[in-house]
Amino acid sequence: MALVALASAKGSPGVTTASLVLGALWPRQVLLAECDPAGSDVAIRMTAPGGQPLNSDRGLLSLAAAGRKGLGDEVIMAHSQQLDGGLDVMLGVRSPEQIGGIAGLWAPLGLTFNQMHSADVLADCGRIGPASPQLPVVQAARLVVLVCTATGSSVAHLRERLSSLVHHVDARLAVMVVADPKRRDGVKQVWSVLDAMSIQIHHRWHLAYDPVGASFFDGRGHGRLEKTALIRTGSEIAADMASIVGMPSQYEYDMAQAAFPEGEVRR
Ligand SMILES: Nc1ncnc2c1ncn2[C@@H]1O[C@H](COP(=O)(O)OP(=O)(O)OP(=O)(O)O)[C@@H](O)[C@H]1O
Ligand SMILES: [Mg+2]
Repeated sequence: MALVALASAKGSPGVTTASLVLGALWPRQVLLAECDPAGSDVAIRMTAPGGQPLNSDRGLLSLAAAGRKGLGDEVIMAHSQQLDGGLDVMLGVRSPEQIGGIAGLWAPLGLTFNQMHSADVLADCGRIGPASPQLPVVQAARLVVLVCTATGSSVAHLRERLSSLVHHVDARLAVMVVADPKRRDGVKQVWSVLDAMSIQIHHRWHLAYDPVGASFFDGRGHGRLEKTALIRTGSEIAADMASIVGMPSQYEYDMAQAAFPEGEVRR
């Protein structure tokens, strides 16, 4: 199955919220992996089934200790846990001080996430730059989604980060703008900035800026989550994204083409 990396250039445009929303709405089995070196937000905002606190000792750090002999679906899932609602999550480090404990883990982790048999993986990679320790996870992904808002400074940082990232990442690049559903003009402006760049952005999505919907992923929600603009837009994006990464990559297609006689390989 496939790894999708979500990240931002600067600010807090809503990467963690978008990752939780997409994870909750993903049409296949999925694992949300918190790969943000700044520390876990999910452990603070979300709960285990029955409203119990999540076990913050089980996550990336415990995986690093257990996974020295090798990583695979079983060991990954043994260090993951379920959120209330059923989404599987691998909690990130508690604080940036713990990052040293997983220094050698990022590259094998990225490769393992991208090849899990039992689930797709959505990795919340936080803010990303060329010197970020979690860059190998982004590099291993089949799809890299940069999240921004429709403000001038967010888009300026996004543009700068895309220009740099394109030299470090081979995956398909996508952009998700978090903006008020009524602000279509602002979103259009973001697309025109991207169109003016020489970099190919394969996919683009508009996720609703929706404080009521977002509050459910902040541990404060009340009312009917399924009626919110966040869930409406998130459902469409999750379905689209899952179908994109569910298709065989060009590399896999080329390998299959080389292995079988002409005409036998179908997309
Ligand atoms: N789609 C949204 N609509 C309304 N509010 C949102 C949305 N997404 C995020 N928020 C709010 O913005 C704040 C930051 O969100 P979040 O933690 O998801 O951002 P982030 O990009 O992961 O930030 P960081 O870089 O600090 O990890 C939170 O209070 C969250 O509730
Ligand atoms: Mg975050």
